[in-house]
Amino acid sequence: MSDTYLTTIAARRTNYAITNKSSVPDEKIEAIVKACVLHSPSSFNIQSGRAVIVTGAENAKLWKLCSESMLKGLEEGERRTMVEGRLKAFSGGYGSILFFEDQAVVDAITVKMPMFAKQFPTWSTNSTGMLQVVVWTALTLEGLGASLQHNGAYSDELVADILKTFSLPTTWTSTAIMPFGDPAAPPAEKTFGPIEERVKFIKG
Ligand SMILES: Cc1cc2nc3c(=O)[nH]c(=O)nc-3n(C[C@H](O)[C@H](O)[C@H](O)COP(=O)(O)O)c2cc1C
Repeated sequence: MSDTYLTTIAARRTNYAITNKSSVPDEKIEAIVKACVLHSPSSFNIQSGRAVIVTGAENAKLWKLCSESMLKGLEEGERRTMVEGRLKAFSGGYGSILFFEDQAVVDAITVKMPMFAKQFPTWSTNSTGMLQVVVWTALTLEGLGASLQHNGAYSDELVADILKTFSLPTTWTSTAIMPFGDPAAPPAEKTFGPIEERVKFIKG
């Protein structure tokens, strides 16, 4: 029963080689993201996850902000060339999905349940990761290439600029950005360490 699901999980990959085209209509992309946001779990079902889809000129605007922030103070050299190349590829993609956690929602549950105050930040991070992976996997199933970027999380100034540019609530905490588009090439090869060292089955 789970074989198809597991094959799909394995198919989800980081793909930096994306084009400015999408063979998937905008309405379908929006429906996918809505379904993922609706059905992804959150602690005590607080539904703190938020997502914003930007395409075309708005996507270019997003990556211009990220580029200005990320390249600031980065000296000429191999690393800068690599970062510049990546930023150009993301900017030239079809779109990006921005992930957030609404801090107002997380704060409200923290006040309501102070005994879990220490855990809520971790659970919030867990929740957004779950949402990100289901969106990423769904985009893969549609044949799109995508990757997960944390540019929006690097600098408070950049996050503030992103929120302002897209008129988003200031309580939204940026957790990741997922550039996507039709793939220009398959993902790079992936290597794996021994699974026996990572999973234990303790039979009773
Ligand atoms: C929590 C998390 C943070 C990540 N952050 C970045 C990132 O900032 N930039 C990036 O290019 N990839 C990022 N990645 C992608 C990983 O590098 C990638 O998932 C990993 O190398 C495995 O490759 P795969 O996605 O093809 O399975 C992140 C992945 C995870 C799970």
